[in-house]
Amino acid sequence: MAVRHFLTLQDLTSDELHKVIDSAIALKKAHRDSRQKPVFAGKVLAMIFEKSSTRTRVSFEAGMAQLGGSALFLSPTDTQLGRGEPIEDSARVISRMADLVMIRTFGHDKIERFAEYSDVPVINALTDSFHPCQLLADVQTYVEQRGSIQGKTVAWIGDGNNMCHSWINAAMQFDFQLRIACPVGYEPDAQLVENAGGRVLLTDDPIIAASGADLVTTDVFASMGQETEQQTRLKLFEGFQVNHQLMANAADNALFMHCLPAHRGEEVSAELLEDKKISVVWDEAENRLHAQKALMLFLLNAI
Ligand code: CP
Ligand code: NVA
Repeated sequence: MAVRHFLTLQDLTSDELHKVIDSAIALKKAHRDSRQKPVFAGKVLAMIFEKSSTRTRVSFEAGMAQLGGSALFLSPTDTQLGRGEPIEDSARVISRMADLVMIRTFGHDKIERFAEYSDVPVINALTDSFHPCQLLADVQTYVEQRGSIQGKTVAWIGDGNNMCHSWINAAMQFDFQLRIACPVGYEPDAQLVENAGGRVLLTDDPIIAASGADLVTTDVFASMGQETEQQTRLKLFEGFQVNHQLMANAADNALFMHCLPAHRGEEVSAELLEDKKISVVWDEAENRLHAQKALMLFLLNAI
């Protein structure tokens, strides 16, 4: 059987994604009831991190341990990847020893090259272009809180970044409307927007995007690797903060999501982030654990 990778949400069919979400919800219950079986005994996940992480590292490492397997943390400062060993060689070596590989890196082409040469499934744990694992957790969170996301309206406010791209992919795969509000010049990839057809609306007005939305979501103005742009972006993104005033335009029971880490007072107000009736950011973070356990089980044909 051909090796399956998870580089974007489009690597799984819509049915397969729904299966992963259902399984994540079941795994969460099993974990709470201490019913988790060590089905991954002897299995190893190699985790390559070229950027910082809290949620991704802890959720993959804890998830592997809970399933009875183990995880290796590999940083470029400690491996030959950081000294210039070709990705193609590293992929062939690591995938002969590990059962799964997870990569957080810069250019999306790097993870594609790794996957091409890997004998085992490769999971995208964030590139400059996509963050599909976060979307599994976010959709799981919406389903748990409000039921199916199909036919709902989601508003993305802020930078047309990796998270925004994965929300576009999610709109296609989970069949919901996505309204994206970005400052001019910070829109998501035009080809991706075109592929999404009528499911995506692009505007530079946060109120248009948020009006009647069932879910409003955002992310930092400057992502990892864009630290030198932080001050310029702060000025250009003025008016793109998600706060109670903007949420007043959304549907009555609308939720707020943020992949975290958040910059209070920039893309989100501190009051909204901490508003337990609207903000589900801590559930989103926890669900990284359950959704990725489900994903790993799927990729190793265990669900
Ligand atoms: N949301 C997310 O991926 O967080 P980390 O950068 O902490 O992994
Ligand atoms: N867009 C952010 C997401 C962090 C989880 C970044 O790439 O830094």
